[in-house]
Amino acid sequence: EIGVLADQVGMNAYVVGGFVRDLIMKIENFDIDIVVEGDAVVLAKKFAKLKNAKVSVHYKFKTAVVILPDNFRIDFATARSEYYDFPAAAPKVEDSSIKIDLYRRDFTINTIAIKLNKEDFGALVDYFGAQSDIRDRKIRVLHNLSFVDDPSRIFRAIRFAVRYNFDIGPHTERLLKHAINLKLIDRIVGQRLFLEIKYILCEKEYLKALNMMKNYGILKFFSNSINFSEESLEIFKFLDKLINWYSVQINRNIEIWIPRFNLLFHSLKRGEFIKLLERFEFNSNYKKYFASQVFKSRNAAIRLKKNKNITNSYIYNTLKDLEDEFVLYLSAILGEKFENLIKKYYTYIKEIKLEINGNDLKDLGYKPSEKFKYVLDKLLELKLDGVILNKGDEIKYAKKLFEEIESG
Ligand code: CTP
Repeated sequence: EIGVLADQVGMNAYVVGGFVRDLIMKIENFDIDIVVEGDAVVLAKKFAKLKNAKVSVHYKFKTAVVILPDNFRIDFATARSEYYDFPAAAPKVEDSSIKIDLYRRDFTINTIAIKLNKEDFGALVDYFGAQSDIRDRKIRVLHNLSFVDDPSRIFRAIRFAVRYNFDIGPHTERLLKHAINLKLIDRIVGQRLFLEIKYILCEKEYLKALNMMKNYGILKFFSNSINFSEESLEIFKFLDKLINWYSVQINRNIEIWIPRFNLLFHSLKRGEFIKLLERFEFNSNYKKYFASQVFKSRNAAIRLKKNKNITNSYIYNTLKDLEDEFVLYLSAILGEKFENLIKKYYTYIKEIKLEINGNDLKDLGYKPSEKFKYVLDKLLELKLDGVILNKGDEIKYAKKLFEEIESG
């Protein structure tokens, strides 16, 4: 349908990039990017109208996002064929804008498009050897200045290499190493740099990526204190085992990058860690929240390791203010000895609730006050530790606790 509409307005439209790359490799990908030779905004609006979809437009960049009624999104972009800031060899006048647009991209494997217009519907557009590089399993840049134009491609090269189990081509690898030596990573803006590391940590084979980053000397651009050794590899593997258990057992989605991120930067002291979050341009609220969760986790780990007599209520009170992502981080640094403790926290301790609540205390004749919270918290602790067994006990102990408070 996009092709038909494109014909009507006399433009060419293509599906490009990741979707086509993954299609060739028979990998699912739901990110559809359309490139238009002509004004993408015009086409996107027409398409949205036809589909009863929402469209949000970026006039400056001549891009638009169409959100279909079932929430499926399609990105539309105008082929970028301007001559200024064009890298390496200048394009020839006769080159089509789709060709120039593809030439500006990061790696050959992403420079493939499928034409949507009626006449050539389904035709593969492959000027730079995308299919052959996909077949050869090679990550290759299109020109020597690719990493200089956009140093975040250093991370993308590694991400694609581990995701598809591709090699970085020898010439591309030389350029990549050169870009690292030139410290181009320091020029990447914070939010971009953060996203790149986050995406890498979300990859299934993220440990391979971290290992590559270590070997290329990339990790030290984040901090000199990172310790990514054989030993830490085992801790990451243990973390992944816990995450697996968690996702099967608890069946809740977590931000998987968070515990991995915390483990990667575990050897950074408070000041360094906060500096890193600032380098990543975390906003001040998120930075405070994130750092406080990390340092609460680290302190909790130290206390749990020291404590000889760990009761259920102690576990509960130590973990209750931590988000699950941080509990998983903490569990990883605690190690296998504490594996059962964490499992017990999720499957048993967290499930225990009191049968009575504030209303019941009112019905017993007590006046609501901050004492209620104290009493209910205390009751829960007693229940967690097996002192209280049923509703009758809860009432009995509630009265006892109120008496204790009254008598100071
Ligand atoms: N691109 C680029 N340089 C970058 C980022 C992106 O040239 N630094 C190009 C790539 O060619 C890519 C396209 O822009 O195909 C879209 O980028 P993105 O959606 O990030 O990439 P995908 O290839 O779809 O990757 P993913 O599967 O991780 O979404």
